[in-house]
Amino acid sequence: MPNNITLTQFIIEQQREMPGASGTFSLLLNDIVTACKQISHRVNRGALIGVLGNADSENIQGEVQKKLDIITNDIMVDALSWNGLLAGMASEEVDDLISIPEQYPKGKYLALFDPLDGSSNIDVNLTVGTIFSILRCREGVDPEIEDFLRKGSEQVCAGFVLYGPSTIMVLTTGHGVNGFTLDQDIGEFILTHPNMRIPEETSEFAINMSNQRFWELPVQRYIEECISGKDGPRGKNFNMRWIASLVAEVYRILTRGGIFMYPYDTRNPERPGKLRLMYEANPMAFIIEQAGGLCSTGRERILDLKPEGIHQRVPLVLGSKEEVEKIISYHQQNN
Ligand code: F6P
Repeated sequence: MPNNITLTQFIIEQQREMPGASGTFSLLLNDIVTACKQISHRVNRGALIGVLGNADSENIQGEVQKKLDIITNDIMVDALSWNGLLAGMASEEVDDLISIPEQYPKGKYLALFDPLDGSSNIDVNLTVGTIFSILRCREGVDPEIEDFLRKGSEQVCAGFVLYGPSTIMVLTTGHGVNGFTLDQDIGEFILTHPNMRIPEETSEFAINMSNQRFWELPVQRYIEECISGKDGPRGKNFNMRWIASLVAEVYRILTRGGIFMYPYDTRNPERPGKLRLMYEANPMAFIIEQAGGLCSTGRERILDLKPEGIHQRVPLVLGSKEEVEKIISYHQQNN
């Protein structure tokens, strides 16, 4: 491939290698890219354009929405409504499914997204992101909830955009994982991180330690062994990170390995995990597995879960293969 290959060029060239591909998918991706560039711009301008702080509303999860949660959701919906490529959408910020407005044709894909992941970080100027997942839909239907409730293994594409020191898009269509950096001067995402692979050797974990008293035994055991370092059963020292922004944690793991956990905890029996299956766990699982890692609830592979609700939450353990396998084995031993 030539130098400075753009995301659009990359996707079109990938599609050419797939017999029977119609090319419509690259158009859809283009609209996601356009939305993410707009979001990047708003996030970057921040206080200068008055977009920081809370809105006067809560989302379906009962969380106070940030102004930017609402703005970024509107940007995604507007950018994806008109193109005739989607049959419907679902957003972490919206209770019900989002229909395509009557005046536009409907297409064969479904888009699910978390328009601003990690938004509690926005007012303290830390990294946030947009996560998206694309599913195929039966053609010519007005999609119902069942059309969306499909296993993560059926995703045709998943990606996220990180609004950090650089704006970076990470993407998979099931043929590996590639990273593209937004060149602000020319307004294009350029392939900068081809074929991302999660390093297998790792000694870094990410977990919200303030919830320790609510974890199950297998997770308690894993973390205790990490913390006991060189003198413990692992025989090496571990480092810890917690950014409270899933996109940033996953990007770190893709670049230097490690493990991230938001495990099952007993705080609220009706809420077995914090993160959402459809907008967070599934797309990240697709990316992590395509980069050679693993993603599990601790008991089941995330991509094999049959979703029960569009806003369902799940326990999430992801990262370097050997570490996730270790945690799964601790869960099995505990059963
Ligand atoms: O789902 C939103 C999210 O902000 C994730 O991006 C992040 O990993 C997690 O929640 C942070 O949780 P906590 O607020 O418990 O640190």
